[in-house]
Amino acid sequence: MIGFTMTARSNHQTIRVLLLTTALVAGCNQETSGPAAHPLAVGPVPATVQRQGNPAAGYDALVNQPYISCGMPYSAFIKATSPPSPRQLLSNRNSRNRELPYMLTIRDTDDGVRLVTSNCLSCHAGYFDDELIIGLGNEFLDFTRDASISAEQLGAYVTSKKDALEWKKWADRIATIAPYMRTDTLGVNPAVNLTFALMAHRNPVSLKWSDKALIEPPPKAPLPVSVPPWWRMKKKNALFYNTEGRGDHARIMMLAATLCTDSIEEARKIDRLATDIRAYLGSLEAPEYPYPVDSKRAAKGRTLFEQDCSFCHGTYGNNASYPNLVVHHDEVGTDPELARLLTSEENLRFIQWFNRSFFGENSSGEAAPGYIAPPLDGVWATAPYFHNGSVPSMEGVLNSAARPKYWILPENPDRFNQKTLGWYYTEPGYGKKGAVNRSEKKRIYDTTINGYSNTGHRYGDRFNHQQRAALIEYIKTL
Ligand code: HEC
Ligand code: HEC
Repeated sequence: MIGFTMTARSNHQTIRVLLLTTALVAGCNQETSGPAAHPLAVGPVPATVQRQGNPAAGYDALVNQPYISCGMPYSAFIKATSPPSPRQLLSNRNSRNRELPYMLTIRDTDDGVRLVTSNCLSCHAGYFDDELIIGLGNEFLDFTRDASISAEQLGAYVTSKKDALEWKKWADRIATIAPYMRTDTLGVNPAVNLTFALMAHRNPVSLKWSDKALIEPPPKAPLPVSVPPWWRMKKKNALFYNTEGRGDHARIMMLAATLCTDSIEEARKIDRLATDIRAYLGSLEAPEYPYPVDSKRAAKGRTLFEQDCSFCHGTYGNNASYPNLVVHHDEVGTDPELARLLTSEENLRFIQWFNRSFFGENSSGEAAPGYIAPPLDGVWATAPYFHNGSVPSMEGVLNSAARPKYWILPENPDRFNQKTLGWYYTEPGYGKKGAVNRSEKKRIYDTTINGYSNTGHRYGDRFNHQQRAALIEYIKTL
């Protein structure tokens, strides 16, 4: 099973057989290794009924409601930061929030302190062609700095006693989790590790916070994750690359807002918002490709796609279908570390925490030994590719020989390459070890580092240049 590689002619029968054998092998392992810690999850992920919400109310909640209850005192924030640039403003926010950068939301506490809290859009909104797209993952964030330093520094601008109390609560939280959200590469996201760090400090049943960890915290260095686009949620039965988020999507996604959710009462309030937010995410459509498409070439690409890719990624256009297929990491061959970590014995405490907690009431954490083959709607906008963001262009996805070993993204998403479907990048010719200084070092994506590899998914390798160009043309239409 493990030694299997896709032969010259990719054919569905082989893949199907492989998935079945993988399933059987994983099933056997499970039986012999004690309690069903990680139920077998290679194959299609079943659909579960979602609680109904209102998409319009969900959008309002997303951009106007303070679901993260702690933050920076407004008075200090105004003194410490420069005014936002016009491109950071969202026109359709309420009057309280209209002047704030899109990733921040006002909260007025019962004590009359005005706070500036962060919201989901810090990671889940990104620019394409200078336009802010809600739901596009932000692949240009910098988590290489120690987040506790700027939180500390803001303290210098705090004047009143009430403000100082709120600032301290927020700064202490940041200080506790900062070591677990620090990456050494620009653009990669530590959200998975961050969530585990928060779990370690919170009682799953009461949600009460503890400054001292209650269970062993995760390892400090996060595995790199690329932020997936929200518009996939329309088709996806489970959340996350590994599909570990099964059941009620709203309850799972609100975990991302729990920096200071320290009681069940507060969690229930956020849960009501989360149902609407879920409905809003489920209503999102992928953007349309903004540049010209050669429709004749795209039609050729469609034929190839349906022969070689649809089995895992589904079909598009009229009569679209999507199989929600988890593929074993030995089969897809992309970096296995995230799937291995999530299914490991050491990581079980976090899955158990989740399943015992308020968040696991109507959902469950079920790690799978692999990754979902994602819906490819609007995938052209989402470089870098794969769960770890290791491949900077679609051309590289389809041709493993064209993947750079070391590469550097520009600082901003300003130069989209229509030919390769990705951001322009440079190749320094050396990895992090060869970097000339620290600022260059953090900008280098080094695929020789554990968790960062760009192997696998060689399903496009058998095509020639023209066929690949046709596939790329078709992918623009998705
Ligand atoms: C610190 C960055 C960050 C913040 C803030 C954040 N997310 Fe995410 N989100 C991620 C990353 C990274 C992933 C991918 C994790 C994975 O799949 O393992 C993700 C995944 C998701 C997914 C699943 C997408 C899919 O294709 O499976 C949903 C839904 C989601 N987030 C919703 C939210 C909501 C709602 C909020 C605000 C309450 C939020 N996120 C806040 C980084 C973030
Ligand atoms: C055996 C199943 C399978 C086949 C066949 C397959 N893929 Fe995939 N594909 C996957 C999986 C699984 C992933 C996720 C890998 C990861 O995130 O590490 C993926 C990821 C991708 C991505 C990256 C998505 C993103 O947002 O990062 C693209 C693009 C893609 N596939 C295109 C294709 C095309 C085009 C073909 C046909 C030439 C194809 N795939 C064939 C399973 C498959």
